[in-house]
Amino acid sequence: MKNKTDHKNPTANQNAEGSERARPILHQQAHEIQPYGKIAKLPIALDQQVCATSVELLNQILADTITLRDLYKKHHWQVAGHTFYQLHLLFDKHFDEQSELVDAIAERIQLLGGISIAMAADVAETTFIPRPPRGREEAPVQISRMLEAHEIILKEARTVARQAADAGDDGTNDLLVSQVIRTNELQVWFLAEHLVDVPLVRADNAKAAASGS
Ligand SMILES: [Fe+2]
Repeated sequence: MKNKTDHKNPTANQNAEGSERARPILHQQAHEIQPYGKIAKLPIALDQQVCATSVELLNQILADTITLRDLYKKHHWQVAGHTFYQLHLLFDKHFDEQSELVDAIAERIQLLGGISIAMAADVAETTFIPRPPRGREEAPVQISRMLEAHEIILKEARTVARQAADAGDDGTNDLLVSQVIRTNELQVWFLAEHLVDVPLVRADNAKAAASGS
């Protein structure tokens, strides 16, 4: 809407027009430019059907990776006990590494012409990782929960990596093998060693000798 012309004050008119043009246009709406599930093919020398299959499979791994990433942050905040500081830091390191995987998987989906799952509600509907309680859990339970999540992702990443290689989608295979699988395997090691029941100070043999048995 144009302001009324003020003949007595041309500078005021210029200011009004100037600010009119600089004003942000808010509350805009339109149809989506690409519906979810449809492929907007890019010239990457891959068949559209190959892209569509990789996109669908990668979105499952993306939803599960976002869920595991968020599980790490939940446990980073809520961890308790003697190993609080160590686990607090470790969980955040793994969170950062999972965040990088989330970005790499999501951007691979986009470059394949697909649409990456992004929002929490869509992730919650898609993920295979069981929902944890809102409350706090003991550290061994937190770790067990994350080990199960890692194994779900590793299983699907290995299957999809093989399928992608067979279909000629080497980029997806490489992402899954050299980033997703390697990172998850390493994190499993760092977590699982915390569930090995070894004494902190006195060796088991020493305890047995002291009790005379
Ligand atoms: Fe923090």
